[in-house]
Amino acid sequence: MEREEPVLFNKFPNLKKKVPWIPILTNMPTPIERLTELEKNYDLNGGEIYIKRDDKNHHIYGGNKFRKFEFIFGDVLEKKKKGVVTLGGIGTNHGIACAILCKELYKPLKCDLFLFPQPITWHVQRTLLLDDYFGAKLHFSKGDIRAFIKTLFFQIRHPKYYFIFPGGSPLFGFGTPLGAVGFIDAIFELEEQIKNGEIPEPDALFIAGGSTGTAAGIVAGCKLLNLKTKVYIVAVYEYFVANPSSIIKNANKALKYLYKRDKDIPKIKITENDFEFIKGYLGSGYGIKTKRSQKTVDIVYELEGKNKGFMLETTYTGKTMAAMFEYLNKEENKSKKVLFWNTYNSNDLDKYLKEKSYNYENLPKKFHKFFESKTFQCWQITNCPEEIRNKCPAYFNHEYRFWKVTDCLLNEKKRKKAYEELNSVIKLEEA
Ligand SMILES: Cc1ncc(COP(=O)(O)O)c(C=O)c1O
Repeated sequence: MEREEPVLFNKFPNLKKKVPWIPILTNMPTPIERLTELEKNYDLNGGEIYIKRDDKNHHIYGGNKFRKFEFIFGDVLEKKKKGVVTLGGIGTNHGIACAILCKELYKPLKCDLFLFPQPITWHVQRTLLLDDYFGAKLHFSKGDIRAFIKTLFFQIRHPKYYFIFPGGSPLFGFGTPLGAVGFIDAIFELEEQIKNGEIPEPDALFIAGGSTGTAAGIVAGCKLLNLKTKVYIVAVYEYFVANPSSIIKNANKALKYLYKRDKDIPKIKITENDFEFIKGYLGSGYGIKTKRSQKTVDIVYELEGKNKGFMLETTYTGKTMAAMFEYLNKEENKSKKVLFWNTYNSNDLDKYLKEKSYNYENLPKKFHKFFESKTFQCWQITNCPEEIRNKCPAYFNHEYRFWKVTDCLLNEKKRKKAYEELNSVIKLEEA
């Protein structure tokens, strides 16, 4: 069931007619759960660890995207656009979210994605296949700046398309602040949960910083509501995009947008004292798998995710949780109440791929090389027969290699070959 209105409108009714919004999210408010197994693992001294389950905020695709899109697509529909165009890496979650939403709207929209290379993983391959499954039209670009220019030209030639900036956040001050408004609203939701006793007011909140709209909204929301919570933003994209001044700019842009529409909104400004910006987890670039992020993904899955039905990944949430673990390892933080905001979808998407099977030939030719240069699938390495792979839980399993999921249903020799080959394709960086 979609919600009737954002908490923000409930608190500031004047915004209702002045801020575009459409109902998209279907499991609101998202639950907050306590991660007691992780607490034990970190030998806390009165400290508590919580997770905000945004990974389940929609029945098809959870995560941070649709919080932004309730407001951004409100604007798309208000402006009567026929399609959206946006850009990102070949594994972009923002792109797949756009594709899904464009298809699912009561009046579907066209979706064109301009994509540039990033390190190839099974997650990346799967995202491309899903982009195709959900009907997006894919365009290849050699790099992020070229993709940006091409997208811009595309929009100029197609004025009925709405240009969504990468990640749904403003870039260098340009672009709509509505995505960040979605996360200001999310903090209003959190405040209600604090009041209801679902979580004590956190001392620290950990969030990934990519295009930074998510983090900017969270920082702005916390200050607007006078929460004592310190927001820790973990850089997961290169510094020219993910940096403290982008966060300040994006947060203030969103606050100004709201204040202009309702003078009851407190007039505040975000400064660098309102959050901590954490570097050192990115590795040599966006999408790089690092040792710490992979280790974090594994520990969290073993101790909590397996039972609670969520899984981190290595590009955003694994890096962010790794930074949170380092924080909790410090003696002075062992009594802190911390909240990890889970921004990554945990619904099963592999079922859609199973319907279509592994057919990358449907994609435009320029994307085929991302499937032909590296093999990530045990069933391809072992030539696993169809009747066995269809029974095997590792078939199309998304983030995990088969040995995390099941014993191989073939013989030991084939299992070993697949294990060795897959271990050699994924290089983990020391970061
Ligand atoms: C799973 C996930 N977490 C976090 C982020 C970062 O959000 P933002 O781009 O708003 O900084 C993204 C962005 O793509 C994402 O896909």
